[in-house]
Amino acid sequence: MNIIIVKDNQEAGEIAAEMIAEKISKNPKLVLGLATGSTPVSTYETLIKMYKNKKVDFSQVKSFNLDEYKDLQPTHEQSYRYFMNTKLFDHININHNWTFVPSGTDTKNPETYDLEIEKAGGIDLQLLGLGVNGHIGFNEPGTKFDSKTAVVDLTPSTIQINARFFDSPAEVPTQAVSMGLASIMNSKEIILIATGANKAEAIYHLVHGKVSEQWPCSILQNHENVTIIVDQEAAKLLESN
Ligand code: GLP
Repeated sequence: MNIIIVKDNQEAGEIAAEMIAEKISKNPKLVLGLATGSTPVSTYETLIKMYKNKKVDFSQVKSFNLDEYKDLQPTHEQSYRYFMNTKLFDHININHNWTFVPSGTDTKNPETYDLEIEKAGGIDLQLLGLGVNGHIGFNEPGTKFDSKTAVVDLTPSTIQINARFFDSPAEVPTQAVSMGLASIMNSKEIILIATGANKAEAIYHLVHGKVSEQWPCSILQNHENVTIIVDQEAAKLLESN
């Protein structure tokens, strides 16, 4: 596992964006796995700047997002589809028909998402954030390592963390559709970004912990091409630090 320690989230975003742009320049038809949450926003802002400066061309890129809240319409301001459109897709030259986000409203056959990914040739580069409890995508502690895209239950702590984005507690989704851990592990390369002291425990388990379903991020120890980009605060429990 390659570990890059940076000073803040901005620098993390710049490094991740450079890595993504370099991959696209080598393979213009790159299949990108994308994440939501506050962490990757600086990555997306940097990619938009690079696109405007003609340093990256998304015209042949396909993207697959990790997850979506169950029952939120794509037009809902807190849906991950809305997030991706407004934070990235609307500002770059990606073909919108090639941007995939799991449907939160048509959830009868979520596993077809994995087939779509396969049809596209698999994910070349997956960007990940990290939940405070070690979740990746919305794969909460206890999720089976062989899981594929499915409707998943959110833990009370995740629901509470997400509550700040909704007007009332009753509106906070309690379920999501998430790529599974096996789906994520199928990506050829993974970049995970985590910044802030509240991610330090999860980063410890990701790097040094026992590989266990109690810390879903620990599965990344079994992947051969993972880079984690962390700030000093998120890295503070790492042994070499
Ligand atoms: C949500 C998303 C994850 C994301 C996590 C962390 O749970 N499903 O993909 O990594 O939030 O969010 P943040 O980056 O805002 O800390």
